[in-house]
Amino acid sequence: MSSLLIDNIGELVTNVAGTGEGGRLGIRRDAAILVEEDRVAWLGPARYAPAATRRIDADGAAVLPGFVDSHAHLVFAGDRAAEFAARMAGQPYTGGGIRTTVAATRAASDDTLRATVRRLRAEALRQGTTTIEIKSGYGLTVADEARSLRIAAEVTGETTFLGAHVVPTEYADRPDDYVGLVCGPMLRSAAPYAKWIDVFCERGAFDADHARAILTCGQAAGLGVRLHANQLGPGPGVRLAVELGAASADHCSHLDAADVDALAGSATVATLLPGAEFSTRSPYPDARRLLDARVTVALATDCNPGSSYTSSMPFCLALAVREMGMTPAEAVWAATAGGARALRRDDVGVLAPGARADLMILDAPSHLHLAYRPGVPLIRQVLHNGVPL
Ligand code: NIG
Ligand code: FE
Repeated sequence: MSSLLIDNIGELVTNVAGTGEGGRLGIRRDAAILVEEDRVAWLGPARYAPAATRRIDADGAAVLPGFVDSHAHLVFAGDRAAEFAARMAGQPYTGGGIRTTVAATRAASDDTLRATVRRLRAEALRQGTTTIEIKSGYGLTVADEARSLRIAAEVTGETTFLGAHVVPTEYADRPDDYVGLVCGPMLRSAAPYAKWIDVFCERGAFDADHARAILTCGQAAGLGVRLHANQLGPGPGVRLAVELGAASADHCSHLDAADVDALAGSATVATLLPGAEFSTRSPYPDARRLLDARVTVALATDCNPGSSYTSSMPFCLALAVREMGMTPAEAVWAATAGGARALRRDDVGVLAPGARADLMILDAPSHLHLAYRPGVPLIRQVLHNGVPL
C-alpha cells in the first residue's frame, strides 16, 4: 500500500476540539500526518511518526483540512461583468440578471458547460477547496436542469437541484404551473443526479408556500433540503428551513430575532456568503450575532456569474473576519468544518484517522495568515483524496 508522511508541520489544524490548543481548531504543534490511499491513517507527534513510502517536508508550515465550499453555482454560460460594472456605478442587485444567464446556459452545448465547470472546479482546488457543492438553476427546463446536474455530478458528489431559482420568462404569468413542473417531471429527471434540493425563497423568486411545496416534494424523492434564505431582505426563508430540518439556510443577510432563535434551537447551519455582499455592494451578514447565539456558521463562496464570481474561499474567509465580526479561528473553522456540517459530512473538514486525506499546506506558519494576508496566494500544496496536486 502506498503511504505518504507529511512531517515538520509547524501548526496542524485538526478541527478535533479538545485534542490540542486552539479550542475548536484542535491545533497540534510539531506534528506529522500519515496518509494511506485516500484516508488519514495516523497523526501525532513527529517523533512517533511511522515509516512511509513517500514524504513531504512541510518546513514549519501550517497544515489545515481542505476548504469545504458548500454553496456554488458553477453550471452556467457567459458572464455578467457589465452588470457588475453597472452595480459599482450605483445600480442595485435584484436577481433579475439570473434570466440572462438562463438564456446563455440553454443556448450552450454540453461541452461548453462542462469546460466551465471543470475550469472553475480546478480554480477552486488550487485555492484549497477539496469539497464543493454545485447547484443547477440556470437551465429551468426539464432537459436543461437534468443536464446541468449530470455535468455537475462528473466533478462532485454534492449536487443540488435548484429548478426553483426563478420563474423562467415563459412561465411568468403562471408561476403555479412552473411549481408543478418543478415538483413533477423536472424533479423526476433531476433526482438521479442530485443529492440535495434548494429553492431561492425571496420576494421576486418563490414565496414560502411555493418553497415548502417544492422542498417537500424533494424530500419525498429522497433529497436533502437546503435553502437560499433572507438574502435580499427579511422573509420567511430561514424559519422555513428550520421547519423542514434543512441542512443549511444560506445567505442569512437579513435576520430578525426570531430567525436567530430558530437557527439556535436547530440543527440547521447558517451558511454565510460574503462574496455576494462584496459583489453586490450590500451590507454583510452579522456573523457575530449568530455565533454569540451558538448557531453553527459555515462560510462558502456562492460562486456564480451574477452575485459572486469568486471561487476563492481564502477571499471569503478574509471578508468574514474583516467585515462580519468573526475571529480568524472562527472563520477557518466555518470554511472547513462548518461547510462539512452544512453538507452533513463527517469525513471532510476534519483531520483525524479515517477522515478523507483532503488537506492543504500553507505558505505560512499559521492559519491566522489566511485573513492576515488577504489576496496573497498562500496555498502551497493541496492533497485531494490523498493525491498531492
Ligand atoms: O445565490 N440568489 C440567488 N442565486 C444566486 C445569484 C444568481 C445570479 O445572480 O445569477 C445567489 O446569489
Ligand atoms: Fe446562491
